[in-house]
Amino acid sequence: MKKNSKIFNTFKKSNTFSISRFIFLCLYEKNYGYYQNNRIGTDFITAPEISQLFGECISIFIASINRKIGNIRDFCELGPGNGTLIKDLSKNLNKLIKSDLNFYLFEKSNCLSANIKKNIKEINIFHLKRLTFPPRPIFFIANEFFDALPINQFEKTSDGWFERRVDLIQGKLKVILKKNTFCKFEENYGKKGDIIEKSPYADLYLKRIFKHLKKFGGGLLIFDYGPLKKKKIDTLQSIFKKKKSFFLNNPYESDITYHVDFEKIKQMAKHSGLFFYGPITQKKFLFFNGINERFLELSRSLQSKNQLQILNSQFTRLIDARGMGNLIKCLLVTKKKMKLNYF
Ligand SMILES: C[S@@+](CC[C@H](N)C(=O)[O-])C[C@H]1O[C@@H](n2cnc3c(N)ncnc32)[C@H](O)[C@@H]1O
Repeated sequence: MKKNSKIFNTFKKSNTFSISRFIFLCLYEKNYGYYQNNRIGTDFITAPEISQLFGECISIFIASINRKIGNIRDFCELGPGNGTLIKDLSKNLNKLIKSDLNFYLFEKSNCLSANIKKNIKEINIFHLKRLTFPPRPIFFIANEFFDALPINQFEKTSDGWFERRVDLIQGKLKVILKKNTFCKFEENYGKKGDIIEKSPYADLYLKRIFKHLKKFGGGLLIFDYGPLKKKKIDTLQSIFKKKKSFFLNNPYESDITYHVDFEKIKQMAKHSGLFFYGPITQKKFLFFNGINERFLELSRSLQSKNQLQILNSQFTRLIDARGMGNLIKCLLVTKKKMKLNYF
């Protein structure tokens, strides 16, 4: 573990960590955090980084519903990473919507934000330090954002609900159980062995966004890893040097994610008086928004066999039923009610 890091110093004082604090420091601690030092694509790849086809299909989707949701001119991406998706979206939306568009980015990593500022100059971009927005309808887009937010875990044992925390025991990072006031579950809720995952950040951000949508209109489109219905199990995992690993191994050097609870997001949307659609698989979303047609069009314009092979493998990766095509789900939340047959 990095000497002088906050994780190291906390353990030196014999304190333990909530899992969310531990993940937060692993990913964002100044100088050390994974996202302060790595570009997206180093250890894992996301859909926009695979191909422009992803951003093109989202642009087609937004343009197709834009009139119904209030002619949105303001777009906000949560956790834009390298900024590839916003670049693709702006290129296509400017053509499809034909109006002056504004793009807002909410990015925690100083390193990634600085890269975007340096590399993307052609778009009207506003960098948000906090989730406060102009008083207008906004369309929010979040690709692999919510599954990257820190979470806490709670486990039911024969003695009731306990918080799972991180401790350093004989030089090894371990998950320990602690009874404390955060475990606000009824004692008879769940069964022995159940693990509940809660993201305080996701709750806070969704509340802010839903409040904005309810007041001013717009929508939120989420793509994230997660099942249609989440089970009460531990879904934390990290990616270290392109391989899946245990989240306590390699702190600061791996990306840590969990499975998003789409049911919970739907409930929150409903409570806020909004409408939700989905979740559906990424594959289904892309098919219904023209990925086949766009793939064929691009194929025709390519000259070399090598370029064709690359395009073919990018297309397959986005829709692969054994990979992100099925594992990533897409959920839409809007203020206005619409008819969307394929959701
Ligand atoms: C898995 S990456 C996805 C990046 C990008 N959306 C893509 O698809 O390539 C997660 C992104 O969310 C950002 N992020 C995570 N937590 C955040 C937070 N609390 N506030 C703002 N951005 C955050 C990370 O810095 C990173 O850019």
